[in-house]
Amino acid sequence: MSSINRIANVASHLSNSQISTNNNASGDIGLIGLAVMGQNLILNAADHGYTVVAYNRTVAKVDEFLANEAKGKSIIGAHSIKELCANLKRPRRIILLVKAGSPVDAFIEQLLPFLEKGDIIIDGGNSHFPDSNRRYAELGEKGIYFVGSGVSGGEEGARYGPSLMPGGAKEAWPHIKDIFQDIAAKTDGEPCCDWVGEAGAGHYVKMVHNGIEYGDMQLICEAYDLLKRVGKFTDKEIGDVFAKWNKGVLDSFLIEITRDILYFNDPTDGVPVLEKILDTAGQKGTGKWTAINALDLGMPVTLIGEAVFSRCLSALKSERVRASKVLGGPSVEGESPITDREKFVDDLEQALYASKIISYAQGFMLIREAAKEYGWKLNNPAIALMWRGGCIIRSVFLGEITSAYRENPDLENLLFHPFFKNAITKAQSGWRASIGKAIEYGVPVPAFTTALSFYDGYRSEKLPANLLQAQRDYFGAHTFQTLPGKENDFLKGDWIHVNWTGRGGNISASTYDA
Ligand code: 6PG
Repeated sequence: MSSINRIANVASHLSNSQISTNNNASGDIGLIGLAVMGQNLILNAADHGYTVVAYNRTVAKVDEFLANEAKGKSIIGAHSIKELCANLKRPRRIILLVKAGSPVDAFIEQLLPFLEKGDIIIDGGNSHFPDSNRRYAELGEKGIYFVGSGVSGGEEGARYGPSLMPGGAKEAWPHIKDIFQDIAAKTDGEPCCDWVGEAGAGHYVKMVHNGIEYGDMQLICEAYDLLKRVGKFTDKEIGDVFAKWNKGVLDSFLIEITRDILYFNDPTDGVPVLEKILDTAGQKGTGKWTAINALDLGMPVTLIGEAVFSRCLSALKSERVRASKVLGGPSVEGESPITDREKFVDDLEQALYASKIISYAQGFMLIREAAKEYGWKLNNPAIALMWRGGCIIRSVFLGEITSAYRENPDLENLLFHPFFKNAITKAQSGWRASIGKAIEYGVPVPAFTTALSFYDGYRSEKLPANLLQAQRDYFGAHTFQTLPGKENDFLKGDWIHVNWTGRGGNISASTYDA
């Protein structure tokens, strides 16, 4: 019996007798975890007229919050889990904004003795979706509704309008819909929050959001690197390029903050702070989870995979420093070889745009497969809309994706939609030219190149996997199928093994695919 189950049993035993009733309770929603995201979300909800009950494990933080940021607002401080629960209207709605992993389970255990059937626990952290699947099932057995909600937008988003991606027990949705949609970001008046789907679907969609975030960031870094290393642009000039791009098809939060980062100088010497930052990327794991899940589901989400590996390569700093001294290859010393700077920048904009289209097409391919694999009914237009505003990957581009899925929610692939098909066709020459320059001058562009290779692979009627199948059959008798119409007396049956060397037998290995 899991710890949640154990405590829940105690809870059901206690529920009608010993738990303090809360008929006079005034709290609309409770929130546990007063780190920056938690505090900002509470202030956001209070601004929208909700009474929020706040609790934190280190209780002193509750008093500090009440005496400062929360002063004069409809926020009640709780000094224990019991007090938190007693101050909430029924069904109780409690958001956990604590570190993903065991802290979430620990708080659920502490909450259960004070909850009743129909109460709602919402995990708003970056939890791994299998954990949310488990919590949904375990709590569901006890009559407690579990919601795993993606929350994106960082500090400012939490305060003034995040993107919220709730999924789990659908019964909870009518009870949380108004609060969630009121505090969420709005795009053209529509809230960037809707019901995502069953069990861990909310956290799954947030995971893919983060994977796409990794991809977008990597693409931007590659563009910056090319402008710097090949174009020999200064940081200020690169900032100007991003400022220009932010007025066109690439208009997005990440392009905008990149512009601001490039313009930001150290006041002590006027040097861009960016050029003083160690080139070693960190990661908390959500991009890695997306890439692992893509491998598990057999989906070629290559761009996110490369983005994760690029962070890994960046982390091998001392090894790279040694390699830079011994491994030869092209590089640009001195003057830039680029004569037409305007074309160089325009080509790069197209490379970014086309690669981004591929990345989102791959992301939605993964979501589609996950829906099939896990039996979720996922709402593609709503997912695109939830990412349109409030979150880190918010962009004008997601407006186009929303329209595409609104037109056809079952669209097989974004690349088949006329808007994206035409956009990528138009962007192709610039895309290929930019990658050509990167290869010629030795600048790594793994995300740009994997996007283009995916595109060329996806549009290839025939790939060299015939040779691969032959190799597998040659050394391991793994068998192959023939092209339609190519069967004959020698190539007979569904799965064929050929004795390639004359030495092997006619016994084939069993046929299965991982
Ligand atoms: C968001 C962000 C947020 C966090 C990333 C950082 O949507 O608000 O995605 O969740 O900033 O998880 O991830 P890394 O530390 O792995 O870059």
